[in-house]
Amino acid sequence: MECPITVPTIRACKGKKRLVMITAYDAPTTRWAEAAGADMLLVGDSLAMVVLGHETTLSVTLDEMLHHAKVVTRVHKRAFVVGDLPFGSYQVSLEGTLEAGIRFFKEAHVHAVKLEGLWPDRVEGLVRAGIPVMGHLGLTPQAIRTMGGYKVQGRTLEDAQLLVKAAIRLEEAGCFALVLEGVPAEVASVITETLSIPTIGIGAGIGCDGQVLVIHDLLGISAQPLPRFVTPYCQLSEIAIAALQRWVGDVRNGHTPTEKQSYHLSDETAVLWRELHSEA
Ligand code: KIV
Repeated sequence: MECPITVPTIRACKGKKRLVMITAYDAPTTRWAEAAGADMLLVGDSLAMVVLGHETTLSVTLDEMLHHAKVVTRVHKRAFVVGDLPFGSYQVSLEGTLEAGIRFFKEAHVHAVKLEGLWPDRVEGLVRAGIPVMGHLGLTPQAIRTMGGYKVQGRTLEDAQLLVKAAIRLEEAGCFALVLEGVPAEVASVITETLSIPTIGIGAGIGCDGQVLVIHDLLGISAQPLPRFVTPYCQLSEIAIAALQRWVGDVRNGHTPTEKQSYHLSDETAVLWRELHSEA
């Protein structure tokens, strides 16, 4: 579907309008995020954890990501859809990166891809091929083993300076936007002021050009505990469980299905049916 939100319109928001990105993985989350007014939908590799039940994002495959991205682009109406390149799909070679990016475009019809870390040659290659790239720096969950856990990055002066340099390098390589995750607010603000592309923060303070959150965290469906940067706006799991408990109770008590919820034969057929069965 033609998307009214484009790379140039996203870039033009810098300093003018705060951008909103929400993750989406299936038809309901896509509809909800769009109805709420999100500019961008991220088919994030967080899919691995919040939908597929993995412990980390490392296990999700390119095929699984494509399967979910296809659903999101099938039902989306206006938001810009970004597909997350999963672990293993861009680290091996530039050729592999291009193959993964092209599959996201050809098979899932996303509008851009995202990749984690400082891979300027991969960004340049994808952009040259016509595939817009969103960068992702700071706490990059695919590097959980290297970081030793989900830890805020760029806390020392040296690390913070490295993050600024990496952000500049990604902009030079052609990224149209940059996710900053788990970064001190002061550092994210300097990166935001330094770059001419929009930064999208998650656990990176108020100074970013936009914000992104995982929809399951926002709606209270994710496993606890949540990172401190997420305040759920409702507790959908509790609402769902309470509703399901009521139905389970109604089934056990024989209160459902009611007469109104049942189908019946026409009067004429019902007579014939009764006759047939009273003879038997
Ligand atoms: O996978 C994801 O959902 C992400 C966001 C948290 C930025 O990368």
